[in-house]
Amino acid sequence: EKVFRVTPQSYKDVEFIRTLANYAKTPFSKARTFHDSKDLEVEKILPRFYLCLDFWVPDTIDLVEPGKHVDFRAESQVAFDVQALLQQSKIPFEIMIDDLEEALVKQRDSNIRAVHSYEKYNDLDTINAWSANIAAQNPGLVSRSQIGSSYEGRPLYLLKVGKSGSNKKAIFIDCGFHAREWVSPAFCQWFVKDAVESYGVNSQVTNLLNNLDFYVLPVMNVDGYVYTWSSNRMWRKTRSVNKNSSCIGTDPNRNFNAGWCTVGASSRACDDTYCGASPESEIESKALANFIRSNLSSIKAYVTIHSYSQMLLFPYSYSYSLAKDHTELNNVAKGAVSALTALYGTKYTYGPGGTTIYLAAGGSDDWAYDTGVKYSFTFELRDTGRYGFTLPESQIKPTCEETLLAVKYIANHVLNNA
Ligand code: ARG
Ligand code: ZN
Repeated sequence: EKVFRVTPQSYKDVEFIRTLANYAKTPFSKARTFHDSKDLEVEKILPRFYLCLDFWVPDTIDLVEPGKHVDFRAESQVAFDVQALLQQSKIPFEIMIDDLEEALVKQRDSNIRAVHSYEKYNDLDTINAWSANIAAQNPGLVSRSQIGSSYEGRPLYLLKVGKSGSNKKAIFIDCGFHAREWVSPAFCQWFVKDAVESYGVNSQVTNLLNNLDFYVLPVMNVDGYVYTWSSNRMWRKTRSVNKNSSCIGTDPNRNFNAGWCTVGASSRACDDTYCGASPESEIESKALANFIRSNLSSIKAYVTIHSYSQMLLFPYSYSYSLAKDHTELNNVAKGAVSALTALYGTKYTYGPGGTTIYLAAGGSDDWAYDTGVKYSFTFELRDTGRYGFTLPESQIKPTCEETLLAVKYIANHVLNNA
């Protein structure tokens, strides 16, 4: 399998990529009548072109635009054909990952996984054991509760981090919406580790934890996460069964009640950006939304961690209209990004989701904002595509360290302004 980066120069080039992608989703017999592609020479490899292109950035072909690059994975049966077709098309492209299987092996330092490590990717059982343990070891600072269960019946554990006090403001942070974005849950674990290690040692962290509560949901899409460990490393969605379709799962970040399924989302169950049967159709989205609704008086900020692209986004993503708090959110994002960049020079872009990444409705950030959580941010962590979802474990530490600086910047702003 290979990961390609293609930069279409024109709408004609976008059409070419769409043709490749459509063939990848169209069974042979339908494809033949659907498109006449003699000049593309796709025809002769059609039978093997079934469900083989997987869009990484943007998440779907519908969001590809001239002048912006697109990263996608081509399965092994078609990888060389795709390469040949791209060469023939004259559209500028690069091979980002020549052998994805090899990259995935290298992503993890070794396959022997017994104990939890902050600098490794941990499976769900290990993360759940870790969260039980860190709460037990830090009474008075960390406690664990359950906000619901997943479609397949797994508990959704939530950590509350902070010194007890009355009328505290809170910040909600979640990780692991999209199953394959493994560095995201790694960040949530790192965040809690930093809190317990720095409380009483570092004055900024002590101040934050004395005056704020942090709700940390280490893995939101637990079923999807388990599936990326057991069956398909590149799975993105939940694992719920869809009515009238054999395709599984909904994109949890298209499943919230914020311009639901209007733009940048698909109503087809087989697509990676499927918005679901209705807003909060996914039990995991509903659990998260219910928790925030029940704690709206204290929750002042919502932070959701994704990868990859190195971006800090804020509302809106369901339309180009500016949020009522645009100027303030933009200033906070600017400060957070400059704190992040100061550590290792990692470059981030920031701005409203719609103009900075793409229009995509039904996201949890827009929903939280419209529900009354003013400081609502989506992080897209490292990298910008060199490794993409296969970010090596050696980058977990620097990624988490720099991200922590941005999150602390946001938290300080919330403490002083909310
Ligand atoms: N990559 C993220 C996604 O597609 C970006 C989310 C930005 N926010 C949004 N509401 N679309 O889910
Ligand atoms: Zn994501």
